[in-house]
Amino acid sequence: MKHKNIVILFSGEGSNLLNIIEKLHQKECHVTAAITNRPLAKGIEKAQRHNIKVEVIDHKEYSSRDAFDTQLLETINHYQPDLVVMAGFMRILTPLVTDNIRAINVHPSLLPLFKGGNAIFESFKSSEKQGGISVHWVSSELDGGEVIAQNSFDKEEDETLESFTTKIQKLEHQLLPETIVQILKGVSTSEEVREFTE
Ligand code: GRF
Repeated sequence: MKHKNIVILFSGEGSNLLNIIEKLHQKECHVTAAITNRPLAKGIEKAQRHNIKVEVIDHKEYSSRDAFDTQLLETINHYQPDLVVMAGFMRILTPLVTDNIRAINVHPSLLPLFKGGNAIFESFKSSEKQGGISVHWVSSELDGGEVIAQNSFDKEEDETLESFTTKIQKLEHQLLPETIVQILKGVSTSEEVREFTE
């Protein structure tokens, strides 16, 4: 059977990017391209090492948000992905992109708690007894699309920001690829994906 195509968007370290490539590429799907908005993102080398085409669209080279988003949408469409995966993509997108792609995002908190770019620190510092992660559909509202799957852990008494972050990363590396596989299999509703990933 022909593999489905995914495009991954990332901005930094790219540990989720690498994890998806290692677990799914040429097994469950084709990672046809990885797109970053940061020319120095460490993930670039990780993807290239696996012969994944990397597109750099440096947002600093665009005069407006719309101009960047137009180029991003055009680049995504060029690869005709069945699914776009945002994995550590730290750039707010306008409806120009979000209304025109089928995309999921991984977020390091139990949404709707702690939306935005500081989620790990905020949930670590909060009085919540648990930390966790969410995979959700991308919508025009930042970190506000429908949640597809979540996973959580109890905070330890001696938890440090470092140990907390490591637990988040471990959960992301498990849940994000699992969710991608279920979506590509055509498991369409969030309830169904949850059944498979829980
Ligand atoms: C992840 O924790 C993701 O949830 C957040 O940024 C981090 C990206 O890490 N949005 P990496 O680039 O995949 O290593």
